[in-house]
Amino acid sequence: MWLRMKISILFTTATVAASIFPIRSVAAPAEAITSGNNTRKMVAEKSYPIVNPNLATTANGVLFPNPELTDHTGKKVRFYDHLIKGKIFLVNFIYTSCEAYCPMETARVKKFQDLLGERMGKDIFFYSISIDPETDTPEVLAAYRKKFNAGPGWTFLTGNEAEIDAMRRHLGLLVDTDIDDKKDHGLNMLIGNEKSGQWMRRSNLDKAEVIATLLGENLSEWRETGGLTNSFVNAPLKVAAMPRGEEIYKTRCIDCHSIGGGDGLGPDLKNVTKTRDLKWLTSWISAPNKMLAAKDPIATAMLVQFKGLAMPNLGLSEFDVGLVIEFLKGSSGESNMTIEQGGAK
Ligand code: HEC
Repeated sequence: MWLRMKISILFTTATVAASIFPIRSVAAPAEAITSGNNTRKMVAEKSYPIVNPNLATTANGVLFPNPELTDHTGKKVRFYDHLIKGKIFLVNFIYTSCEAYCPMETARVKKFQDLLGERMGKDIFFYSISIDPETDTPEVLAAYRKKFNAGPGWTFLTGNEAEIDAMRRHLGLLVDTDIDDKKDHGLNMLIGNEKSGQWMRRSNLDKAEVIATLLGENLSEWRETGGLTNSFVNAPLKVAAMPRGEEIYKTRCIDCHSIGGGDGLGPDLKNVTKTRDLKWLTSWISAPNKMLAAKDPIATAMLVQFKGLAMPNLGLSEFDVGLVIEFLKGSSGESNMTIEQGGAK
């Protein structure tokens, strides 16, 4: 499955959005066409707004999707009325049976949650909506949510498949090329502030600190934030000089793993290059799903220990797997590489 990572950034204001989603109207039949003197005169048309229960009009006059959804506790809610109105929000689309990028995406959202701390569930809310409602019942979503240690303010939702597709399209998070393979969805999410009428589309693969800062500061109309435990300003800036192995680790692995910082969603990887043999490690990082399917004993035991959260198959090439293992070796003091916090020499 080829998964496109769209890093496109879309900044829209309420005005632009209003022109993208205009309020549609139907023309009333032209009444009087006078034929005297051979002049034909059209009488001004009246407009009758189409009433669609799945759309709501925001205070800024923008049509916003408002379908009925069911949350992970089984509660029925309307998307705009109950989840978006008056809030600062993040919306992304996932499905729980995904073995590729969605778990990484969800782990990244978990990072945003951790960075926003106390503000989660107060003025900032996250919504992860399933694009596979048939499989993802509220019970399945509740279990998935638990695996990722999602806290207050982060709701998982399901609903009617066609309505969810319509909502994704309306929000600019479903494009025609996604249709060929429904599961092949771009790693995009929408973040915004309904009250101020601002929203943006961002990639889930953006640095966690960047998204947390956008939500906690920019979209919060630059209010002072006590809740942020970290800030973009403090983020390491040596990205350009980063070797590929380290870059892979920092963009693909770091949301679930640490090296010497203890277990996270996945195990601490310090010394993993010493405790596991190279062949096992290579196969595991290349295709953990295949090893779990083949009932590899180490993998099976690990899966139980980590609450059934399977490591995703990130589709790395053999070459990239080699590089990330080299990086892990270096971090465990096994190679000549010296790893500093935030950059390597
Ligand atoms: C969505 C979270 C997630 C991401 C992203 C992720 N992993 Fe994992 N990883 C796990 C979990 C959970 C386990 C252990 C449970 C299992 O899957 O069996 C694991 C296990 C491992 C192990 C085995 C550890 C041991 O003690 O034997 C290695 C090595 C590993 N991951 C490396 C990586 C690397 C390298 C990347 C990035 C290319 C990565 N992981 C990305 C969740 C993740």
